[in-house]
Amino acid sequence: MPAKTKTRLAVFASGSGSNAENLIRYFQGHPDIKIALVVSNRQDAFVLKRAKRYDVPAVVVTSQEWQQEGFIKNLFSKNNIDGVVLAGYLLLIPEYFIKMYPEKILNIHPALLPDFGGKGMYGMHVHRAVIDSGAGKSGITIHVVDEAYDHGQIIFQETLKIEQGETSESLAKRIQKLEHRHYPIVVENHFTP
Ligand code: GAR
Repeated sequence: MPAKTKTRLAVFASGSGSNAENLIRYFQGHPDIKIALVVSNRQDAFVLKRAKRYDVPAVVVTSQEWQQEGFIKNLFSKNNIDGVVLAGYLLLIPEYFIKMYPEKILNIHPALLPDFGGKGMYGMHVHRAVIDSGAGKSGITIHVVDEAYDHGQIIFQETLKIEQGETSESLAKRIQKLEHRHYPIVVENHFTP
């Protein structure tokens, strides 16, 4: 019988990459899914070091390169990428790329969309906005990516209560725990044939 081919995912991250590393670790030795590529838009992103530690190929793709459809198509077909997981990725995904991977690009957002999303809403900016709003809860949202920031179909949300005296820093830590607990499982369920 021919060997079963795994679903090959690319993880996109712009910064630290704790979620990217968590995904890499979760899918190490997984029977069906492989994190086959890490993509960053920044040469100095810590995620590139994390990828190297796990021997996952990593590339920097600049916003200028994203405008070259042929270059991008070649890069992703060369690496046999079947789907994409955004984990703290700050560039808007171009329309042609969304068409290349219909329903196959996921994003995680550190709040309860549709609130506290959109351009400029990432990382600590989100947690500060949540605390400043006086909201009683926050959480995480995992959704399919479409042409607008933080917009496509929501496939998973988990809520937490904002505690008395909560700061944006304490909230960030609690949200990160939720992200690390849930994102790999949601990715696994979404991409398992
Ligand atoms: C994560 O909290 C992720 O939800 C957020 O960036 C952080 C990246 O952390 N993404 C967004 O805000 C997207 N709008 P990490 O680099 O440690 O994984």
